[in-house]
Amino acid sequence: MPHVCIPRTIRASGPLRGGIAVPGDKSISHRALILSALAVGQSRITGLLEGEDVLATAAALRAMGVTIDRIGPGSWTVHGVGVGGLLQPERALDMGNSGTSTRLLMGLVATHPITATFVGDASLSRRPMARVAEPLGRMGADIAASPGTTLPLMVRGLCPAVPIAYTLPVASAQVKSAILLAGLNTPGITRVVEPIPTRDHSERMLAGFGAEVTVEETPQGRVISLTGEAELRPQDIVVPGDPSSAAFWLVAASIVPGSDLLVRGVGMNPTRTGLLTALRLMGADITESDARIVGGEPVADLRVRHAPLRAIAVPADLAPSMIDEYPALFVAAAFADGRTVARGAHELRVKESDRIAAMAAALGANGVAVQEHEDGLTVAGSGGAAIPGGGTVATRLDHRIAMSMAVAALHARAPVSLDDVAPVATSYPDFFSTLEAATAQERSA
Ligand code: S3P
Repeated sequence: MPHVCIPRTIRASGPLRGGIAVPGDKSISHRALILSALAVGQSRITGLLEGEDVLATAAALRAMGVTIDRIGPGSWTVHGVGVGGLLQPERALDMGNSGTSTRLLMGLVATHPITATFVGDASLSRRPMARVAEPLGRMGADIAASPGTTLPLMVRGLCPAVPIAYTLPVASAQVKSAILLAGLNTPGITRVVEPIPTRDHSERMLAGFGAEVTVEETPQGRVISLTGEAELRPQDIVVPGDPSSAAFWLVAASIVPGSDLLVRGVGMNPTRTGLLTALRLMGADITESDARIVGGEPVADLRVRHAPLRAIAVPADLAPSMIDEYPALFVAAAFADGRTVARGAHELRVKESDRIAAMAAALGANGVAVQEHEDGLTVAGSGGAAIPGGGTVATRLDHRIAMSMAVAALHARAPVSLDDVAPVATSYPDFFSTLEAATAQERSA
């Protein structure tokens, strides 16, 4: 489908107040659909993120023979076909903008006796797939990709496949998960070693579905071992709120004077809370309450009040637990006192856009002094004052660039124009209505 751009101009707002809930976690939503599809019988999912990325995963699973129904908002049922039971899709699988859908489903197809072609939008078609193609090839899958190991690409699965022990050369939960999903339909033990821990939703959920999975901490890193030819039992899954979507509100309420916002039901898995740590190091006023477990994951409500932020050197070891939150962090840095330096985040170059270049250009166009590094950004903060604004932002088919700069616009002297906010629908369809709700009290006062 051709992409239709939706431009939007954002003006400064009054404080963010009241309470909001964030949508279901994107990573967990993909995994809930995929593991439910491989269980034998009916699973029920509530709180599913109904963003375009997750819908791409659902459509692809349907194309491979899985029955998936929407019962109501966020409430879905999946009739799983059992591990090994996926059918040959008749057409190419359209992954849209979603790297997670592509890499996880490549893992599934790799060990089924089927062939699938993966296509995606201009952003996804530039993203590197060698990182999954290489280990899946070792398991026996035959992968024919476009130059640079990009989409469109075709995966011809092998069944039975060969189990591997694989040390991740890049810290990537998607690569880890692709290998583990491939391992589900592979005889023997598939092992992934991650020298640097990444989000562990796959391991948690695999165990919840009854797979034999063990996690050991060793001097080489975390070792995840999965026993293949697994039989998964259907589950009732409640998807917690997405900390990556909450990130925009944590930053917005921190930078807009007078804000006091309660963000409810935020996933607090320690492999995802790096931004919270970084914001607190900067002096943000964020308190947690009602800590609880939802769907096997820790969750809490977060109260965020406006606070003066100070610049920091962002600890590079936080990168894996805040990899998707750097654009929002760069916005927080634009309002801090001093120069914030974030290095050691090379991976930002290969996300939905090159997020280092995209944020350098976006902030620079709105009067924020930035210095681009190969692996990060230095941002000169305003000391809490409004930034100049008045610029146009190229969102580059990247939802997080659009939402981050919408947040920056809330405390800018002149309106900020975003050339295209359509990508926001990939992860947060209600973002702008939530923004209106959070700033509404002030407008009506
Ligand atoms: C994700 C892993 C991360 C993250 C992405 C979602 C996942 O990607 O950036 O948005 O659901 O496993 P990498 O595995 O490339 O780090």
